[in-house]
Amino acid sequence: MTGFLVEALSRDHDRAGFSCGVDALDRYLEVQAGQDVRRRIANCFVARPARSAEIAGYYTLSASSIATPDLPEGITRRLPRYPLLPAVVIGRLAVDRRHVGLGLGAALLFDAIRRSASADAAVFAIVVDAKDERAVRFYEHHGFSRFASRPLSLYLPMATAIMLL
Ligand SMILES: CC(C)(COP(=O)(O)OP(=O)(O)OC[C@H]1O[C@@H](n2cnc3c(N)ncnc32)[C@H](O)[C@@H]1OP(=O)(O)O)[C@@H](O)C(=O)NCCC(=O)NCCS
Repeated sequence: MTGFLVEALSRDHDRAGFSCGVDALDRYLEVQAGQDVRRRIANCFVARPARSAEIAGYYTLSASSIATPDLPEGITRRLPRYPLLPAVVIGRLAVDRRHVGLGLGAALLFDAIRRSASADAAVFAIVVDAKDERAVRFYEHHGFSRFASRPLSLYLPMATAIMLL
């Protein structure tokens, strides 16, 4: 994906022009994302073409945790018996309809992994909340696995995610 910059959402970006085909995701970017950033509930990162304020895609990132019993035995067997493990959650990720199929969704996902991997706070896994089965398939395509207890939520251990970069 060349010709795009990924940066933190700011007042300079054109939030109203974004259209990914899912009203809730468009509306979130236009009216809610800035407030969530100011309140430290989520950080929002946008992809924009160089020399343009147009938003081609965005994602949000927040601190989270995973209840250790929600992970399969194969992963937890080698871990200390802590009840919770540190995680980051990609709450939303969307690409504008004019830019789908160009690798931007994957680039935003990799950007989220890169930022989470280099955070000072340790992150055991990346969690995503998919809005439907189509979105689940996008994340499964990139190595995420479903939580047995929550089929629209998926995780990717950070150690595995780093190998994808
Ligand atoms: C899902 C979405 C983010 C994908 O963005 P995109 O920029 O078109 O995806 P990319 O071009 O980066 O695709 C990267 C890879 O994922 C695959 N892929 C894309 N969408 C997929 C899907 N729904 N299921 C399975 N694989 C998918 C592509 O084929 C590509 O595979 P490759 O690397 O082997 O060639 C985008 O379609 C979108 O914004 N949809 C509406 C909102 C949404 O569903 N968000 C999901 C989180 S709630």
